[in-house]
Amino acid sequence: MREEWKKRLGTVWAGTECLGFRILDSTNEYGKSLAVRRPVHGLLITAQSQTAGKGRRGRTWQSPEGTAVLMSLCVEPEFLPERAAGLTLVMAMAAAEAIRELTGVQPGIKWPNDLVLNGKKICGILTEMVFRKEAYAVILGVGINVNTEQFPKELEETAGSLKTELGRAFSKDALIGMVLRFFEAYYEQYQMTGDLSLLKERYEAFLVNRDKEVRVLDPQHPYQGVAKGITKEGKLIVVDQNNQEQCVDSGEVSVRGILGYT
Ligand code: BTN
Repeated sequence: MREEWKKRLGTVWAGTECLGFRILDSTNEYGKSLAVRRPVHGLLITAQSQTAGKGRRGRTWQSPEGTAVLMSLCVEPEFLPERAAGLTLVMAMAAAEAIRELTGVQPGIKWPNDLVLNGKKICGILTEMVFRKEAYAVILGVGINVNTEQFPKELEETAGSLKTELGRAFSKDALIGMVLRFFEAYYEQYQMTGDLSLLKERYEAFLVNRDKEVRVLDPQHPYQGVAKGITKEGKLIVVDQNNQEQCVDSGEVSVRGILGYT
């Protein structure tokens, strides 16, 4: 079974060890609980449903059983932890490429890491880190709404799935395999430089905010400008109304399009 999965997957390390569950509190939490105890580089955890799925900024992430890809990929980078935040953007690219390959339709990336199709959010990524004695692990949690048809009331306007947007069902396992293959290839490139210099251009090809008016929701000083692309560290480059280039860090502020969600 294990050998069969590895052969079909075709990666060298990403997802070659896979733990699949019907139900978990959160695939990220499970990944973290293992990563503090033992090496986890390449370990994949999947679930059909989560009882306490976590989103960014303390939000929850809910999906009806069996309808979404709920996965966490654990990696143990050779570069310094300060550089690990960029892996979130690497995973967003891998998920976008995988969706394009599976469906033939290219999703966009709303900086830094939401995937959108027809202006609806179809995928979110939550990256967490844990430290062991001499190593640290990054847990890249990915939720992709694949065949989901029902969303919590408050998300009805902004959330979608491959099925709601493209009108048919898709294989979640095929999608997971594609995400892992793209991620492995992109990770090797990220690791070479410890930043996005080799991947920036490809990332920008998916960036829905590019050349669009955005509002930077900085609590101290909110402002409006035009998004131009990303730095090699993954910050969003915004030209503000005084024609000054600002580099926006996703850990500190969020960005909204001026017309709706994207
Ligand atoms: C977001 O808020 O956009 C990030 C959502 C991340 C959800 C995924 S689902 C699998 C993994 N386990 C979790 O608890 N969260 C991530």
